[in-house]
Amino acid sequence: MPKTKPALPGTTDRRITALVTLLAENATIVISGARIAREIGVSRSTVWRWVQRLRELGVRAKGHPRTGYYLEKVPDLLTPDMLKARLKGSLFGKHIHHFLKTDSTNRVAMELGYADEPEGAVVLAEEQTAGRGRAGRSWHSERGTGIYVTLLLRPKISPMQAPLLTMMAGLSARVAVQALTALTVDLKWPNDLLLAGKKLGGILTEMYAEPSQVRFLVVGIGINVNQERFPPELSAIGTSLRAQTGRSQSRMELLVRLLREFENDYNRFLREGAGSVTERFEAVSSYARGKRVSVSNGTENYSGVTAGLSPEGLLRVEREGGSIVTVIAGDVREAP
Ligand code: BTN
Repeated sequence: MPKTKPALPGTTDRRITALVTLLAENATIVISGARIAREIGVSRSTVWRWVQRLRELGVRAKGHPRTGYYLEKVPDLLTPDMLKARLKGSLFGKHIHHFLKTDSTNRVAMELGYADEPEGAVVLAEEQTAGRGRAGRSWHSERGTGIYVTLLLRPKISPMQAPLLTMMAGLSARVAVQALTALTVDLKWPNDLLLAGKKLGGILTEMYAEPSQVRFLVVGIGINVNQERFPPELSAIGTSLRAQTGRSQSRMELLVRLLREFENDYNRFLREGAGSVTERFEAVSSYARGKRVSVSNGTENYSGVTAGLSPEGLLRVEREGGSIVTVIAGDVREAP
């Protein structure tokens, strides 16, 4: 008997995904509750409960148990079935773990890494309750509006090179956003995606490594897609694609493009090394060269002008007096 791995606790019940697929494949046609119940193998009352749950996620499912159900619009849910169909032949199309709600896709992906899950596994959530940001911050992860995705990778690189994958993910996301919306994202070293000077998204790479060799790493990407408003503390600094374009955008289309770009960039990085990332990053980031910035690294605050990237992808800053410092970690902000 072939062994199938048990599903991760908390992942979306495959029958909910089957319900979405059944409705989507018959969009605008009313399907009776009894037929749905029969086809996906649950009771009619479960179908009703799940339809209500899907509505909370923004799925436009009409009807009720007596009349049957239909979809007004094909939903923009990131279900593994639909994603796999779009990612045939891709490194990221094989092991997709989807959650309606989880604490953090990075946390789940790290666990999968320890459990020998293969390279290319994808963890996705419609909502995160404890999304992780850089420097111990949290990542606001409103249900059904953003992309919250983490990729598990097992590259044969040294831990020193891991930050290059954060920057690389920024480049991939930049191309994907441009393809979908024609908007040009700016990249702020090392992990911010900016539009109109506000934060559109961010990347958080975490790893398990020995001193000279990465065992695995996870690249978590958060992109604000259809948020209409942010909590008060973020409203002045955050933005979304919807806010910038004035209309709702397809999370599925953006995610597919992002994963395809990421795979190309990753293969190129493995073939050609750090230069394939640092050169492109320098060329497109307004922060890489000639920007007045202030840097705080926890122990010290200083200001200066950015002076390109080191071969390992660290930011160089020329301080007043002419000395060049390399920022290893820390917050970089545009200075007035
Ligand atoms: C930052 O800019 O501070 C990094 C934000 C990274 C957020 C993403 S959302 C998906 C993944 N899961 C997490 O818990 N964090 C990352």
